[in-house]
Amino acid sequence: MEPQLLTTPSSDSAPVLLVTGSSRGIGAAIARLAGRAGYRVAVNSRRGGAEAERVVSEICAEGRQARLYPADIGDPAAVTALFAAIDRDWGPLAVLVNNAGLSGGAQPLATLPRSVLHEVMATNLLGAFYCAQEAITRMAHSAGGQGGAIVNVSSEAARFGGHQITAYAAAKAGLNALTLGAARELAVEGIRVNAVSPGVIATAPHDHLNSARREAILASIPLRRMGTPEEVAAAVLWLASPEASYITGAILPITGGR
Ligand SMILES: NC(=O)c1ccc[n+]([C@@H]2O[C@H](COP(=O)([O-])OP(=O)(O)OC[C@H]3O[C@@H](n4cnc5c(N)ncnc54)[C@H](OP(=O)(O)O)[C@@H]3O)[C@@H](O)[C@H]2O)c1
Repeated sequence: MEPQLLTTPSSDSAPVLLVTGSSRGIGAAIARLAGRAGYRVAVNSRRGGAEAERVVSEICAEGRQARLYPADIGDPAAVTALFAAIDRDWGPLAVLVNNAGLSGGAQPLATLPRSVLHEVMATNLLGAFYCAQEAITRMAHSAGGQGGAIVNVSSEAARFGGHQITAYAAAKAGLNALTLGAARELAVEGIRVNAVSPGVIATAPHDHLNSARREAILASIPLRRMGTPEEVAAAVLWLASPEASYITGAILPITGGR
């Protein structure tokens, strides 16, 4: 699915899209596809560094616009500074993609360190709230904004609890609730809010599966393969685009039928 080209690719009036956690994996695929769709792309990761700079370079090499904004989205002050920096460089945001996430690793619930619990909640759930609040104040019609779209990258773990990743699953279930509540509240403000809910996608967190575990996972997926970051990115860009103008409050499974 090729996203709709919104405007002249390198135009200074092109809409601005922020994708959190876009130094690699699904976020990087969203950033690259957003560049091709004509957005000015704000790339973010906690650390910045060579990995994130490479994503920016790849987008710019295609004649599109991208900039790197390192920030820990679990830190509200850092999120405020992130949005202020995008304002200064490019003006207000048109699309927010809340993608940054981490599972905290498989750990028994009873002994899950509180520090990991807090990091998982701060990144997957609170960070999405902080970014959504900043975005809404810029997009809302009642605040003089042009409207916009928010797409949250959730997880199927929200529906079935995952395996020893209960904090992650709970955070993603919260992200689904944020999607539904915000969609209802913000429709009148010209802001659509949707989510994608990937199953198993071939990114770094799955690199170290042993072959037995990998086979068991593939056997559980009707399409018999992991999804690709690009397949998730296509759905995100479509939900953000005018082609999805009557869709809000949707949580789209991307699971290969699982
Ligand atoms: N892969 C899957 O099978 C799958 C399935 C369902 C849902 N998802 C969701 O899809 C999203 C992307 O997953 P992925 O597999 O692409 O993960 P990934 O390869 O581990 O990439 C995660 C990205 O998020 C960034 N990040 C982590 N914590 C952050 C923070 N506090 N502030 C800013 N950036 C932060 C990382 O940058 P740093 O290295 O700088 O921290 C990195 O850019 C996540 O929300 C994940 O929960 C993935």
